[in-house]
Amino acid sequence: MTTATDTGQRAGAAHDGVGADALRPDGALKVEGAFAYASDLRWEGMVWGATLRSPHPSARIVRLDTARALKLPGVVAVLTHEDVPGHPRYGMKVADQPVLAADRVRYQGEPVALVAADHPETARRALRLIDIEYEELPALTDPEQAVEGAGPVVHEERVDGQDGNVVRHVRIRHGDMEEARRLADVVAEGVYEVGMQDQAFLGPEAGLAIPGEDGGVDVFVSTQWLHDDQHQMCAALGLPPDKVRLTLSGVGGAFGGREDVSVQIHAAMLALHTGRPVKMSYNREESFFGHVHRHPAKMWFEHGATRDGKIVYVKARLLFDGGAYTSTSQVVIANGSYFAAGAYEVPHAEIDGFSVFTNNPPCGAMRGFGAVQSCYGVESNLDNLARKLGIDPLELRLRNAMTTGTVLPTGQAVDGPAPAAELLRRLHARPLPPEPEARVSGAFSLPGGLNNTTHGESVRRGIGYAIGVKAIGFSGGVDDRSIARVRLSLTGGEPVAEIHTAAAECGQGIVTVQAQIARTELGVERVVVLPADTQVGDAGSSSASRITWMSGGAVQGACKAVREKLTALGEGLLADLLAEHGPVEAEYEYKHRRTHPIDAERGQGDAHIAFAFAAHRAVVEVDTELGLVKVVELATAQDVGKAMNPLAVAGQIEGGSAQGLGLAVMEELQVAEGRVRNPSFTDYLIPTIADMPAVPIDLLELPHPDSPYGLNGVGEPPTLSSTPAIANALRDATGLELARVPVRPDDIAGRG
Ligand code: MOS
Repeated sequence: MTTATDTGQRAGAAHDGVGADALRPDGALKVEGAFAYASDLRWEGMVWGATLRSPHPSARIVRLDTARALKLPGVVAVLTHEDVPGHPRYGMKVADQPVLAADRVRYQGEPVALVAADHPETARRALRLIDIEYEELPALTDPEQAVEGAGPVVHEERVDGQDGNVVRHVRIRHGDMEEARRLADVVAEGVYEVGMQDQAFLGPEAGLAIPGEDGGVDVFVSTQWLHDDQHQMCAALGLPPDKVRLTLSGVGGAFGGREDVSVQIHAAMLALHTGRPVKMSYNREESFFGHVHRHPAKMWFEHGATRDGKIVYVKARLLFDGGAYTSTSQVVIANGSYFAAGAYEVPHAEIDGFSVFTNNPPCGAMRGFGAVQSCYGVESNLDNLARKLGIDPLELRLRNAMTTGTVLPTGQAVDGPAPAAELLRRLHARPLPPEPEARVSGAFSLPGGLNNTTHGESVRRGIGYAIGVKAIGFSGGVDDRSIARVRLSLTGGEPVAEIHTAAAECGQGIVTVQAQIARTELGVERVVVLPADTQVGDAGSSSASRITWMSGGAVQGACKAVREKLTALGEGLLADLLAEHGPVEAEYEYKHRRTHPIDAERGQGDAHIAFAFAAHRAVVEVDTELGLVKVVELATAQDVGKAMNPLAVAGQIEGGSAQGLGLAVMEELQVAEGRVRNPSFTDYLIPTIADMPAVPIDLLELPHPDSPYGLNGVGEPPTLSSTPAIANALRDATGLELARVPVRPDDIAGRG
């Protein structure tokens, strides 16, 4: 039996402090297949939970009868909405999602009932024995109808007190558009669309809930934010926080898809109801229905510029399909709107961002959080503007690149480093990969790869540049904080630092970084990072590229407090002091500078803590007859403030670039009339090693003035600029408009 606390996340002895390529404790285990993911959790006497989900995007539940399912031998519980002990709805921002649907379902895959049984197959068979009758209702699946107020209303009564299908309208007005239109000699317009991308994390949703003798529950789960899950679970279960105890279990990737709860409340309900430990683990297909996706977007952009290529204004209208429930749609559309002018100095701006309800799958956080969509839009229209002006696209970007002091459309001046032009120059200075004829030819070297579909006769090369900027950390007035505990003691005569935080290791490397910080601050070699749980204060979410900054700051603060306590104990060797006085312990709460919400009328306000920039240059080869694409190279340059662990930074940048490539040419969840057509890795394709080109990385380390060690967030920026760089390169190669990603072979074949 594997114990539930053995997450394999302890960082052992090493000499590696801040800035070193410290190896991660989970790395070798994952490569060997020995890492314990949440789906590997086992417990004595546990039963298996399963979820009945709606097959319809919009329907009324006419009848729900669990009697037949309950009679199946091996079944120990069948639960419906009537069994939810506390608040019937949950949600990260707005509690509008039913824990289990009562009379109405609003998307395909919505949870309706739960089963626990002694075997996972029995649980699944019992799901089929639940008698349920639906009356299908007209589904609203067109976000344009939703924003116009046409078609059915998704929520008859909204929890947030608003009406209709608009989740949020973000309105940003900066400068004077009438004046701007007079100053503009050239205007470029375009409409750009982004398909629905999935996080496609490799470890499906899973968790284990163990009922406690005190009437509470211990939950082991893969998540991004233990304390927020706890908060939502307490409400749904009707229990106080000391009765809902969470521990992080092995997470196989998250990328925003684990911000909302999945199995947490359901597994706990089954455990509390049956008095047995309950394991829930989605299979791949269910995973596609078990988490929110990246918002599909339709975006109208208009740029005005002077003849010599200075951008005067941007006018943008963004429409994000949020699907059936709020999730994080309000903040995703805000983030998309904040950065709709891109990494440029744009004196006049009029930006309207809408997220809407439909009966499509709910959408929410995914790596880049709204800024991915708007970056693709603005960077596409910038190439369009360059064409209209007759100026090289790179030159146009350099002429307008944001610098420190640039005022954003939200009225905030960018402080800290803003090396937009420098990143582009570095990319430009990098030699191009050899042309096809100069390359050693091989099966993989031309579009079509192993299929040997061309000898190069209609293959054309293209080059595209793009740059992205986004805020790091939570914006808009969130009083964000992160807590760490550090304990220094002697073990076998050697000083050992023990770190305890609730920071979620999703695979990004926060465990390693925490250990590095302790080594640097305390001068010790041995560091133990305890499993993340709710027995320590809130660390905040492993999202918004914030956790290294926030939890790193907290660990640094706690280490400094330990050092001060040691100093107060007197002079002497660390080991001697600890031997004489016993362990030294400190807790620290880290906070960043205050931010403010933007105002509703003009969207002005100092909403952000920090900004991060990344740029990409994509080189593609396209078989214009067959529409097949080969990304030959995806060079990138990024300012990371301080590379806390250069190896981990490279991993983040390569991974983010790969997800950007996926969005550019491969990945789309196909939804027709509210139904997902490709919930499998057979039909939803993500880049493999065969699809990924070399990703040469140019790192800038410009210290950020406000952060621990001068670091900046790293994880999200590379997903912004990679997609538009590839799209721009494809346009360069084909001369086609390509106004939608992912670009499909049909969009190219025979059209050039
Ligand atoms: Mo993220 S998209 O901030 O989990």
